[in-house]
Amino acid sequence: MSLENKKILLMIGGGISAYKSLDLIRLLQKKNCSVKVVLTKSGKKFVTSLSLSSLSKNRVFEEIFDEKNKGNIDHISLSRWADLIMVLPTTANFMFRLSKGSAEDLASTIILASNKEIFLVPAMNVRMWEHKATQKNLNVLMDYGYKFIGPEDGEMACGEYGKGKMSSPRQILSFLVKFFKKRDLLKSKKIRAIVTTGPTKEYIDPVRYISNESSGKQGYEIALELSRLGIKTTLISGPTKLKYDNEIKVKKVVTGKEMLEAVKRKLPTHIAVCAAAVSDFKPIYSEKNKIKKNQIKEIKIEKNPDILSFLGKSNRFKPKLLIGFSAETENLIKNSKIKMQEKFCDMIVANDVSKKDRGFHSDFNEVLIIDKNGKIEKVKKNSKKFVASIVAKKIVDTFLSNEKNLN
Ligand SMILES: Cc1cc2nc3c(=O)[nH]c(=O)nc-3n(C[C@H](O)[C@H](O)[C@H](O)COP(=O)(O)O)c2cc1C
Repeated sequence: MSLENKKILLMIGGGISAYKSLDLIRLLQKKNCSVKVVLTKSGKKFVTSLSLSSLSKNRVFEEIFDEKNKGNIDHISLSRWADLIMVLPTTANFMFRLSKGSAEDLASTIILASNKEIFLVPAMNVRMWEHKATQKNLNVLMDYGYKFIGPEDGEMACGEYGKGKMSSPRQILSFLVKFFKKRDLLKSKKIRAIVTTGPTKEYIDPVRYISNESSGKQGYEIALELSRLGIKTTLISGPTKLKYDNEIKVKKVVTGKEMLEAVKRKLPTHIAVCAAAVSDFKPIYSEKNKIKKNQIKEIKIEKNPDILSFLGKSNRFKPKLLIGFSAETENLIKNSKIKMQEKFCDMIVANDVSKKDRGFHSDFNEVLIIDKNGKIEKVKKNSKKFVASIVAKKIVDTFLSNEKNLN
């Protein structure tokens, strides 16, 4: 049922596995999906427009400059029509083109102009897949937020064996069923989340403050990802340089106290992710006027509110799933587990901030996701967007398995 009336835009690239797209279209039709097809110039060498239009029961789109179709801008209208865009097979060349932001044909232009989830289904020879250039492109594409299905290990059309085989139409179908089932369920049950992110600034006087190096990027990417998975998400952000996407609601705050107040206003919530690096301390007094050099004796500080603890210990407002972040420079697992217990959270995302090439100053991160039962999942160094996609998926899966009666 989860695929009923869904609109899928399939793009067929120039690979031998393009023939499998015909089977997928049949499977999607049986689930009452609407399918429209874009065929690349090379794709045409492998499957015919006639087969694709007969099976999809729609005309096939091939040209960016379509003389017969005056007055309609296909690369915009097709993207807005779709619930989801999928490229299969995604060739090495198509990955290269997308990684460069190409808009040279209809397929790449639609993707560049898209506001929808993009799923890429790669298929190529194992050496092509493993080539550094393809792997580099893969990382860029994951950083753009495109999702990958496969490739699988197996024997390929060229007779070689290894990773690069396209996922089968049945595997792709089952992936789509799960994706839409979860998303529709979360949307229909109006599941809400708050994500805190960024540093806070605790002013000593109008121009000086206590703060830290947090960029807010990891929390922001998690909020975006949760929203794409169907959760109504509010990002509560300390002062950052981020450009926020209007896909999510953002509440900007400055101090830890303001962040706590903003969180309280959003309660109750089903899920709370506390990724902000709230300053542990704040000056007891913030002077109205700039302190003169010879005026200052000592700055008295006190503890800032602990938002994670507040949520974990709240009898009335404890979210059904509470996720904390732990930035440590030593004893990462031990300290993170202690934090999880002390603050009554269900999951903690731990990162080692002593390493220079990830965490606070970087677009990259490497984290351990530790759950209440002590199970640890390592997400190796990757872009913060990719790390967010793994963390958000884990959050959604844990939430849904805890709340079985939602299904
Ligand atoms: C017989 C044949 C099979 C091919 N199969 C693949 C393939 O499976 N994967 C791939 O990445 N490229 C494959 N190629 C190369 C692509 O067709 C070529 O790079 C093309 O430009 C890709 O077009 P696209 O960017 O529209 O997908 C194949 C080429 C030929 C001649």
